[in-house]
This record gives sequence, structure tokens and C-alpha cells, in this order.
Amino acid sequence: MLEIKNIHKTFFPGTVNEVKALQGVDFTLEDGVFTAIIGTNGSGKSTVLNAVAGTFEPDAGTILLDGRDITHWPEFRRAAFIGRVFQNPFAGTAAEMSIAENIVMAMRRGKRRGLGPALGRRTLDEIADRVRELKMGLEDRLHNPIGTLSGGQRQALTLLMATWLRPKVLLLDEHTAALDPKSAAKVAELTSEIIAREKLAALMVTHSMQQAVTMPDRILMMHRGRVVEDYRDEMKRRVRIPDLIEAFNRVTKRELFTEPAAAMLERQYL
Ligand SMILES: Nc1ncnc2c1ncn2[C@@H]1O[C@H](COP(=O)(O)OP(=O)(O)OP(=O)(O)O)[C@@H](O)[C@H]1O
Ligand SMILES: [Mg+2]
Repeated sequence: MLEIKNIHKTFFPGTVNEVKALQGVDFTLEDGVFTAIIGTNGSGKSTVLNAVAGTFEPDAGTILLDGRDITHWPEFRRAAFIGRVFQNPFAGTAAEMSIAENIVMAMRRGKRRGLGPALGRRTLDEIADRVRELKMGLEDRLHNPIGTLSGGQRQALTLLMATWLRPKVLLLDEHTAALDPKSAAKVAELTSEIIAREKLAALMVTHSMQQAVTMPDRILMMHRGRVVEDYRDEMKRRVRIPDLIEAFNRVTKRELFTEPAAAMLERQYL
């Protein structure tokens, strides 16, 4: 379970470039609950993922993983517990290295240098078995450089690598956005399968309303560094794309008013 408690992050504080990226983000991710984060550009979605991964420390607030305070842990120390896939299918893998070599690196993640499996027969068999489950025929190309694969094939492998060591948390930042529609659908399907099978606490940032309503168990909507909507359980099952769009409009319209006026309107209409 991942608990995010009131985290704040301001970039370039006290300068003309100051950006209040997170202004009190608060939510709990239970194991096995697949959560999507949606929200306008710059609303803080990637910043939340970066704070969880340890790319930087939040200015305030705490992050607990299974009750342990990891707020000040460096990124490498969290790597054994956190799997991550980015938008760019070329990030996260080494192009000149083979599929098998890339996977062996993923198998050694979070371990001390020199530890972890070598690329022997047994390891190769284990790799082939799991790559076969992707149903892309890549098990026959384990010795090919990963750079020779398509973006979709590469992203499917990145997903497999990110979850190889059964992390507690999986972070996906628009990981299907750069793929063609067919590959995006395939990677989305694999994502749902892996999260369900491994019972991961997963956070997926997406701009696809279709993905948001169909894939996860829960949807968080962010705006200006805060979570402004949280659809879960029955509410999530009932929500449709037009409802999300209406919620976006409601949130952005609120900005036309000063805060007290918006609060007054809310009392009147809710
Ligand atoms: N490393 C950084 N340095 C300075 N500013 C940053 C940094 N990372 C993010 N920001 C700023 O913080 C705000 C939130 O950015 P973030 O990347 O979290 O948005 P996002 O919701 O992921 O947007 P998008 O949908 O465009 O990916 C933005 O104004 C962004 O410019
Ligand atoms: Mg982003």
C-alpha cells in the first residue's frame, strides 16, 4: 500500500519562474487497485509520479510504502519496489543490447553490482517463457538488439521488465501515448493483465478518456497541483466519458471566479 500524505512541490521557489506543481496531494493506493490519473497539461500528474519514484524530494508531506516512510529514500533505493514505464518507448531500454541482455539488467535491478543472474541457459529459458506470454513472437528474437524492434514491441518489453521483479508499485506515465492505435491497445491490455495478476498498486497517467473509463478501478482527476475528483467503486463503474469532460469543464470554469464566489456557487448547485 502506498500512502501519499499532503505532498507539496514548488519548482524555482521565490523566483519569477516559480511553479507550484503540487499543492497538497493526498491519496492512498491499495495493492491490486489500478488507478488512473487524468488532468490538464501541467496539472502535476508526472510530478506526483516523480515524487513517488524519488526523482526529487517533496518540499513537504510524506510518502509511506507499506507503512514505511520512504520520503527521503534516494531513487535507487526505491527501484527494487517501484517499476516505471515512460511515454517514450526508447527510454528505459538500451538499444544496442539484445532483448535478453536488457531483461537480465531488469532482473538485477535494486541488487548490488555484480549480483543477480548471469545469462545462462536457465535464465534464457525463464526469459523465453515470460516473453512468450506477450504473444508477440519475440521469444524467437531474444538475441536481437532491442533497437531493431517497433515502438509497440519495445514498450511491451519495457512493461515486462518494469514488472519482472514484482514491484509493489507500478508507475506508468502516458506509456501508450506514442504508439499506433493497435500497439497502444495491445500494451493497454498487457498492462491490465499484469496489474491484475501481480496485484500491483498501479498509477497510470493518461490523456485518453477511453482508457480512463475502461482500464482502471479508480480515477483521480488533478488540476493545478491538487486531486480535484476521485472516482472509485460504484462511482467509477458508472462514470462515462461525458461525465469526465463535464468535470473538467466544471473545474476549469471555477477559475473564472474568485475562490469565495466558486464556493458560493458550489453550495447553490451541489
Ligand atoms: N523538473 C522541473 N523543473 C521545473 N518545473 C517543472 C519540473 N517538472 C515539472 N515542472 C512544472 O510543474 C508543473 C506540473 O508539471 P507536470 O509535468 O507534473 O504536469 P503534467 O500534469 O504531467 O502535464 P502533462 O499532461 O503536460 O504531462 C508544470 O508547470 C511544469 O512545467
Ligand atoms: Mg506529464
